[in-house]
Amino acid sequence: MILVLMGPPGSGKGTQGARISEELGIPRIATGDTLREMAAAGTPLGLKAKEYSSKGLLVPDEIVVGLIKERIGAEDCRKGFILDGFPRTVGQAEALDAMLHAAGRKIDRVVNFEVPEEEVVRRLSGRRVCTQCGATYHIEFVPPRVEGICDACGGTLVQRADDAPEAVRRRLVEYEQKTAPVLRYYEGKGNLVHVDASPDPDTIFGRVRELIREGSVVRAE
Ligand code: AP5
Repeated sequence: MILVLMGPPGSGKGTQGARISEELGIPRIATGDTLREMAAAGTPLGLKAKEYSSKGLLVPDEIVVGLIKERIGAEDCRKGFILDGFPRTVGQAEALDAMLHAAGRKIDRVVNFEVPEEEVVRRLSGRRVCTQCGATYHIEFVPPRVEGICDACGGTLVQRADDAPEAVRRRLVEYEQKTAPVLRYYEGKGNLVHVDASPDPDTIFGRVRELIREGSVVRAE
């Protein structure tokens, strides 16, 4: 199973991706997480990527395509994988198709999480992430048991730099200009499904699970 998760910033790709990964027993590959880890480790590529991501801009294709190429060739991706946040440009989508074609593989499903812009802003402004294990919370919708402390590992919860209002505005513009066209790219290929990502995470996960099992291309409302 090769799944691609799409949707605007804050639509819940990471939240659902983690659950699907556990359900299917295949890795979730999140380019945003990988880039943040590289920046935190101070690698030259990570620091270069941070120049873009901290402003809410997409990182150049050549950086992310290289990362994905290496990652999906790893042994744990043999049975499948979930791409969260890649591809985000038509150029990345074409590069992914070429990589998969060369390996005799193909995408099974592209799941697009649809959520209104005002909800996106509410989710991103309240998001908190664990500095140790990366778990994601929301101060209102998915609160930790103890404020500021990760339920899973006891780490400190912080706000992501690119969840500041100016960076969120820029990310939404980048999404409309560069990522929305990727949906049109997949529309013609017959493996795109749309999911209403407004309800609570459990409801959304139930719908995603049905869609993945079903195998048909439908719109889940
Ligand atoms: P990335 O980390 O991928 O950010 P993003 O796509 O903007 O997505 P987010 O992580 O913000 O949101 P999400 O959809 O995962 O939602 P989440 O589950 O966290 O990328 C960051 C940056 O890296 C990019 O801006 C770019 O610079 C760079 N980058 C990454 N990939 C790239 C690529 N391919 N090409 C170029 N550059 C790239 O949920 C959000 C919040 O809402 C959380 O607080 C959560 O608890 C809450 N929540 C989730 N679901 C629900 C729900 N159903 N109801 C209520 N609250 C909910």
